[in-house]
Amino acid sequence: MITGSASGIGLELARLACHRGMRVVVTSRSTDKAAAAVASLGADTGSVLGLGADLRREEEVESLVEQVVQRFGRIDLWVNNAAGLFFAPAQDITPNGWRAIVDVNLNAVFLCCRAVFPVMQRQSSGCIVNISSIAAYRPHPGAVHYAAAKAAVNSLTQTLGVEWAPYGIRVNGVALGPVLTAASRFNDPDIRAAMEAEQPTGRIATADEVADIVLSLAAIESTYFTGETVQVDGGYRSVLRSPLPAHQQTAGG
Ligand SMILES: NC(=O)c1ccc[n+]([C@@H]2O[C@H](COP(=O)([O-])OP(=O)(O)OC[C@H]3O[C@@H](n4cnc5c(N)ncnc54)[C@H](OP(=O)(O)O)[C@@H]3O)[C@@H](O)[C@H]2O)c1
Repeated sequence: MITGSASGIGLELARLACHRGMRVVVTSRSTDKAAAAVASLGADTGSVLGLGADLRREEEVESLVEQVVQRFGRIDLWVNNAAGLFFAPAQDITPNGWRAIVDVNLNAVFLCCRAVFPVMQRQSSGCIVNISSIAAYRPHPGAVHYAAAKAAVNSLTQTLGVEWAPYGIRVNGVALGPVLTAASRFNDPDIRAAMEAEQPTGRIATADEVADIVLSLAAIESTYFTGETVQVDGGYRSVLRSPLPAHQQTAGG
């Protein structure tokens, strides 16, 4: 199960998982978009399922889990990949804007973990991977809501890793640096050049190479490896630059 997998990194994860012979569930808020993504994968229709759900809604998350169990009988891997972000100076973010970002980036992750727990508990096995960001570790001017939510996800990963280890459920995270996707702001040549200039590798990651790392992490079967968020950023450890225009930058951005 890969949440938010009708586009971006999630779609590449779904593509790679299909290629490796896994049975895959693609999700989107839109059922039609999920169906189109499934068709684009060109996989055997018996092994790929497309479902629509707004992950901020508990009942839709519960229904998602039920539908997957009904179809495939079990859930071995659940990747919390869905996310949302808009850039704004902190003082311009309304309480509703704050809640919207925390809802999708943090609360939805908790709802998904909570909903899949009984399934993995019954199996006495299962792996959850939470996709985080290096924004969790350092200032991210223009995205205080996103950075705070991702930091909280890392904390959730640590605690669930400990709480659920006795059930054979591993909970780990991958904190990504910048990744190029079809919709990413790194398609803007100026933003991309500025970001690449700061990368030790001289480039930002592609979605398919990130997908490979996420699935490799999930494949580590040792129950001793849990509660850990791994930074995958090509060695990038510097302070993030503000994506806002200079006149809107916050102090220190
Ligand atoms: N790209 C980067 O540079 C980068 C860097 C660091 C971390 N990350 C992390 O990597 C992950 C994937 O990023 P991405 O760039 O591929 O993002 P993306 O293209 O924006 O994809 C995010 C997905 O989340 C889904 N989504 C948003 N709100 C949702 C909701 N309420 N319910 C269900 N699904 C919802 C969207 O699905 P629909 O629109 O189809 O509903 C979308 O496909 C995220 O966790 C992100 O924080 C990305």
